Formats: sequence, structure tokens, C-alpha cells
Amino acid sequence: STSPSSTSGSKTGSTTLITNIASLVTNDSSLGDRSPLGLIQDAAVVIDGDRIAWTGDSRKAPATDNRVDAGGRAVIPGFVDSHSHLVFAGDRTQEFNARMSGRAYSAGGIRTTVAATRAASDEELERNLTHYLAEALRQGTTTFETKSGYGLTVEDEARALRIASAHTDEVTFLGAHIVSPDYADDPAAYVALVTGEMLDACAPYARWIDVFCEKGAFDGDQARAILTAGRAKGLHPRIHANQLSYGPGVQLAVELDAASADHCTHLTDADVDALASGATVATLLPGAEFSTRAAWPDARRLLDAGVTVALSTDCNPGSSFTSSVPFCIALAVRDMGMTPDEALWSATAGGAAALRRTDIGRVAPGAYADLTFLNAPSHVHLAYRPGVPLVREVWRRGVRV
Ligand code: NIG
Ligand code: FE
Repeated sequence: STSPSSTSGSKTGSTTLITNIASLVTNDSSLGDRSPLGLIQDAAVVIDGDRIAWTGDSRKAPATDNRVDAGGRAVIPGFVDSHSHLVFAGDRTQEFNARMSGRAYSAGGIRTTVAATRAASDEELERNLTHYLAEALRQGTTTFETKSGYGLTVEDEARALRIASAHTDEVTFLGAHIVSPDYADDPAAYVALVTGEMLDACAPYARWIDVFCEKGAFDGDQARAILTAGRAKGLHPRIHANQLSYGPGVQLAVELDAASADHCTHLTDADVDALASGATVATLLPGAEFSTRAAWPDARRLLDAGVTVALSTDCNPGSSFTSSVPFCIALAVRDMGMTPDEALWSATAGGAAALRRTDIGRVAPGAYADLTFLNAPSHVHLAYRPGVPLVREVWRRGVRV
């Protein structure tokens, strides 16, 4: 049966039936096999305008204006990459080379990208962002969040957010990435700038506010002050927490009802308990551990405690220069104790939860028609066939891109 009420957002009135889907991940546990993935075999999807109008058994599909044959392959929700840093210039090839010869990662490398980003023109930043977005889209990502954090002046942070906001609604103010080199002798004055003039200039372009809560960046008290100031200006908190060492970030995230605590690599039992008791999603970013040769975050421990886990790329030129969600899924399955089903859920519905969205990350009536078609019979192949370009076709907002 169709659900016409869910299609009221459609403007065109043109409906499309996608049929011959061998295996469809809906992320709606009331559908198909009733698992969290809501897996339907021999499925069909009806798109009306930019939304999903119907999802179900292909033999029961309603009549539509157009028909598309999925060729007996798998279809999944478009990936929701809820954590990236894509407004930057330059790269850090030398730093990566040094790390792969034994040097440790430190937040200090961020300064290299700050200098390159400040020196870049608007056009160069725009060109870079567009390039990495196209790369992500080809690999199945239909929603992405991205941050400032490589400007660290009022003008450069506002510029980064203005550029980002032309490409996504999920824009995060990260003036508190590190203390600006210009304020090295007076971190308190930098926190005052971030919570004052910089926040005022940046808030109009952003939905979220983020802090890198870490030794060498911002401590728990500074993070609390920055996030609280952001909240007073209408921004919602998220935190880079417990990436390089144990610290107060995760519990602060839960205390402030942050949408997400990101990284979660070094967790005490109290951190895990806090996450399990609150609504804060734990966003794991295995590209960072891969590229810094660090120990993996323990997804199994979080899942077993009942924590909602998201999986994202953290794409940035320093700690994780990958835009590939499939790569992160493969790492999470191989090294972080996730099953292929859990990793797929975390990279789609989990990312949506980390952005507090219900209109993305699922293929069910009312959601945006964001679909990734795989050159594979099931989503399991994303981990089973690592490094293989399995994304065959991507639909965003009802349009094949
Ligand atoms: O998420 N943790 C802080 N920020 C980034 C790294 C940024 C960089 O090294 O340029 C991260 O890993
Ligand atoms: Fe990050």
C-alpha cells in the first residue's frame, strides 16, 4: 500500500519506481526482516519528487510514472558523513611521511593547515571543498557535515563557514580547534575571542559548535565555556572528545546533551556509562587511527553497553585524509569489533542520529530519496571487498547524480 500523506513535500508530482533490488537496507525495523537494518529482499522503492513514497516487496509495488531497474543489486541509504573538515588549503604529505617513519601525531600539525588556509583565496577554498565533496559523493555520501577550524581569526572562521554553508546545512563552528598561534601566550584571550566576536560573526552560518577537547588544545573548563556560549547563540554542541588521551570531553558532551562525542578512542568505564545513559551519539572515526597509527576505538564495547554509534570519515589533511565511508566501514568491521550490519547502520542511520536528523539515513516513506546503489548483491560486500569501488550510482534528493 502507498502512503500518500508522506509525499506532500513533493513538488514535481512525478513518481519513479526503482525495481529489481536484490537487497534493500531501509534502516526501518518495522520493514522486511525486522532487524535494525530492516532488510528487504527482492525489493522496490517509489520516489515522489525528492522523497521516498513507498518501500516494500517488489511484487506489491504501486504503479508509477517512471521505472528504473536496479539490475538485481543492493541498494542502501546514502551515507551520512557526520564529521569532516573540508574547508582547507594545502596538504600535509610530509607530516604523514614522517609519521609513517615513526613520528607521533600531535595537534600541532593543525598550524600548518591554518597557515595555508589563511593564505588561500575564497576561490581556492571553494574549489577544494567542491573537489572533496564530489569525491565523497562518488563513494556514496549524500549528506555531510563540515567544520571551520583552519582559520582561527574572526574573518577566516566566518569565511570558512560561509563557503561551507553554500554546500550543506550541517555546518559546524570550530574556532576552538586549537588556540590560534597569534594567542599562544594568552589562551584565555583566545577563548574570549571565540566566545565573543568570533562567535557573533560565525553563528549566522552554523548549526553546530564544536571544541577539540584535548591536551594541547582546550581543557574541560574552556570547552564548557565555549559550548555554553555557543548554545546561548542558538548553536548545538558536539565535541572532539577523548581522541589522543583520556579526558573530560565525553562526559562533558553527555552533560551538555551534545548531539555527538567524536573519536571516543580513550574511554573509561565511566565514559561508557555516561554515553549509555544519555542521548549523545559516539561517532567513531577509524580513518584517524589508521592514518595516525593509533589504537582503534572499541566499537564493540560501546555497542554492548547500548550506546548509539556513528561511523564517519573525519576527512581532513592531517589526521585522516580519506573521504571514503566504505573504507571506514571496512576498518570498523575488521578492527573495531563491528559486524557488517552494525557498521552499515552506523554509517547511515548512526550519522543521521549524530546530526539529530530523521529525514535522512533511511529508505522509508517520508525520508529524502538519498540512495546508494552497489555493484554487489548485498551491503556486506562493503567490508568483504575492501578497497573495491562498489558504489555504482548515487541518487540525492530523488535525482540521479
Ligand atoms: O578530528 N582532532 C582534531 N582535529 C582533527 C585533526 C585535524 C588536523 O590534524 O588537521 C581530527 O582528527
Ligand atoms: Fe575531526
